[in-house]
Amino acid sequence: MMMNMTSSSKDKLDYIWTTYGIPNRFAAASFTNYYPTCASQESARKVCLNYARNDEAIFKYGKGLFLQGPVGTGKTHLSVATLRAIVESNIDTFGCRSSENPIYGDKEYGGYSCAMISTAELLELFRQSSSAKKLKHAAVELHRLAKISEIIILDDIGIEYPSDWSQELLFSIIDLRYRMQRATILTSNCALKDLEERLGKRIVSRVFQMCEGVKVEGEDYRKGAPSVLPL
Ligand SMILES: Nc1ncnc2c1ncn2[C@@H]1O[C@H](COP(=O)(O)OP(=O)(O)O)[C@@H](O)[C@H]1O
Ligand SMILES: [Mg+2]
Repeated sequence: MMMNMTSSSKDKLDYIWTTYGIPNRFAAASFTNYYPTCASQESARKVCLNYARNDEAIFKYGKGLFLQGPVGTGKTHLSVATLRAIVESNIDTFGCRSSENPIYGDKEYGGYSCAMISTAELLELFRQSSSAKKLKHAAVELHRLAKISEIIILDDIGIEYPSDWSQELLFSIIDLRYRMQRATILTSNCALKDLEERLGKRIVSRVFQMCEGVKVEGEDYRKGAPSVLPL
């Protein structure tokens, strides 16, 4: 897909990608630098690639993906690679996520927005913002983005035992996206039973209807990866 991009769409992609909240470690994650280490990862890669090519399912019906498996199997990497491929092949449709922040310069692009949201960070932000007024705005803004963006990654759901308020928060996001048919890519280490215990059946049931399930098995890639630090 990248090969068909003109240099101006490549510039646009590089530019708008920085506004989507992708953490540095995953900023360059793509299908080309995902190296499956077992059959399950190879098949996960194929499912994600096929998904990324089906614009109608994504944008009209809000189809999502649910990547599930043990730690370090590349779920977050694959979710970002998928989002990147979708943005690349629809580069004219996507815009900057937000033009509020002047550090992004004066180039502004209107259009679809997407966001990568760490569930742990979202919950932490809301927890802290109940006592820290300064964080209230950031929490409200993140909640808004999570609901209105045409496509989001909700990374690592079920990472903790949520309380009533955090279940309600996640439910408000999932339920709105479900009703509005907005695509959601989720990742989780939890098996279905744990997920139902942690998030509640209302959330899990919607996730299963909205998303294609993708198992990602294998060893922890982090343990085999060469260290970037000098020894
Ligand atoms: N098959 C793979 N090929 C290339 N890099 C990988 C692969 N699997 C994982 N990684 C890298 O290993 C690290 C951990 O992967 P990550 O996607 O965070 O795993 P998970 O979300 O499943 O815990 C990341 O830096 C990621 O880019
Ligand atoms: Mg992850």
